[in-house]
Amino acid sequence: MQKLKDKVAIVTGGASGIGEATARLFAQQGARAVIIADIQDEKGRAVAESIPSQVCSYMHSDVSDENQVKYTVDWTVQKYGQLDIMFSNAGTIGNSHQKVLDLDLSEFDRVIRVNARGMAACVKHAARAMVEQRVRGSIICTGSVAASRGGAWRTDYAMSKHAVLGLVRSASRQLGEYRIRVNSISPSAVITPLACFAEAETAREVLKRYGQLTSLKGITLTVNHLAEAALFLASDDSAFVSGHDLVVDGGLMALPDPKSSL
Ligand SMILES: NC(=O)c1ccc[n+]([C@@H]2O[C@H](COP(=O)([O-])OP(=O)(O)OC[C@H]3O[C@@H](n4cnc5c(N)ncnc54)[C@H](O)[C@@H]3O)[C@@H](O)[C@H]2O)c1
Repeated sequence: MQKLKDKVAIVTGGASGIGEATARLFAQQGARAVIIADIQDEKGRAVAESIPSQVCSYMHSDVSDENQVKYTVDWTVQKYGQLDIMFSNAGTIGNSHQKVLDLDLSEFDRVIRVNARGMAACVKHAARAMVEQRVRGSIICTGSVAASRGGAWRTDYAMSKHAVLGLVRSASRQLGEYRIRVNSISPSAVITPLACFAEAETAREVLKRYGQLTSLKGITLTVNHLAEAALFLASDDSAFVSGHDLVVDGGLMALPDPKSSL
């Protein structure tokens, strides 16, 4: 049985990584429209075109610009009549270690602008459309294990992801009366361009290092695991779940490890 039959979804950051895998799964699961919103136009278009069943389209949408987010939501509602699912997943990471003693505040502003402010704009405009259309929608944000613990570095990224949890918890309280659910998924390291850029390592090195930090052995986190988590939160399988942070980390958070750099 298809779990998202006739649903309309926006996936931000859908041109790559977790967002791409989720856009593909949402389409497979019967969504009637999946809008990939990203800033990588060529990649985003190619992903949309490669998804069979013609339900997927690409739209340039920089989440750090509220007007572009509003336009994307308005366009979707105008074209498809409603918005059922917002997967607010687009994110970025700084290009330096950003320890607190030498924080580069312009880099800090850039990360916060996308990861915290951008997420807020997506939740705001998706929720407004859902309230207006009386849709019992599902909003899902991508957090991180960095949202729940202090980091050895990347202070700006940790702060931006802590903000995501604050947003999800507040929005879930405020939107419950409209029957809109708001949740997050929080991955540990998964091989994507963002993770390899952040660690300045090859995929194999990142996997090896993070493999040592999880309690679950013999399995590696992939973008498909995260797409499945997003599908759970998007579908009626999670009908009574709201304000929840679904950590997908192979037990990493349950294993405090002083060597961990997360
Ligand atoms: N990969 C990991 O290890 C990991 C771990 C925890 C959390 N996350 C989070 O997962 C989310 C997805 O990242 P990913 O790992 O799939 O990386 P990715 O680089 O594959 O995908 C991120 C996507 O976001 C898009 N994006 C960046 N800035 C944007 C903007 N201003 N507007 C619209 N789109 C923008 C990028 O173009 C890219 O397509 C991010 O929020 C990231 O912080 C990733």
